Amino acid sequence: MERNIGVLISGRGSNLQSLIDAVANGRLDARIALVISNKADAYGLERARSAGIETLVLDHKAFPSREAFDQAMVDALRAREVALVCLAGFMRLVSATFVGAFPNQILNIHPALLPSFPGLHAQRQALEHGVRFSGATVHLVDTSLDAGPIVMQAVVPVFSDDTEDTLSARILAEEHRIYPEAVGRMLDGDWSIDGRRLTFG
Ligand code: GRF
Repeated sequence: MERNIGVLISGRGSNLQSLIDAVANGRLDARIALVISNKADAYGLERARSAGIETLVLDHKAFPSREAFDQAMVDALRAREVALVCLAGFMRLVSATFVGAFPNQILNIHPALLPSFPGLHAQRQALEHGVRFSGATVHLVDTSLDAGPIVMQAVVPVFSDDTEDTLSARILAEEHRIYPEAVGRMLDGDWSIDGRRLTFG
């Protein structure tokens, strides 16, 4: 199916929910064919089940290597004929096995304006650095950490009385807005990549 997507999660799944909601209300023309979690207790699994979406738990610790774990994900996603894989709070690095199986077909959402503040605790990094603006980035996934070509970004202000929680909440609202939009535009296929630069239209 041309507009099948797979979503990879490890936890809360609020970005997964934003995709579920966008499909339900017609803002996103796609079908979430499978949600994979590497954690059996990820709350996002319940969100998927409530929406009638197929789920699969693959515990990375049960595999002999990262490649073997990634290959199991590739097999499951290929069997559902996904056109796009969306990482949504998936807390594992993916290997060349995975990236090579879905070239320019894997998206991630990161809670900062990349290339600033990659990695964990991006909102805390932004606060500690003293930036006046931060935001959210949807990017293509390659084997580097949070460093593939940028698909979409949204900016939020950072206020002097912000805490990690208040800034995270402000950024999260933008994540939920831009991720479904980015997924839809990538599925539409009217984009090209020149070096690092992804252009729509
Ligand atoms: C989000 O902040 C996302 O940007 C980051 O991990 C968090 C996942 O949250 N990659 P959720 O599981 O989607 O609620």
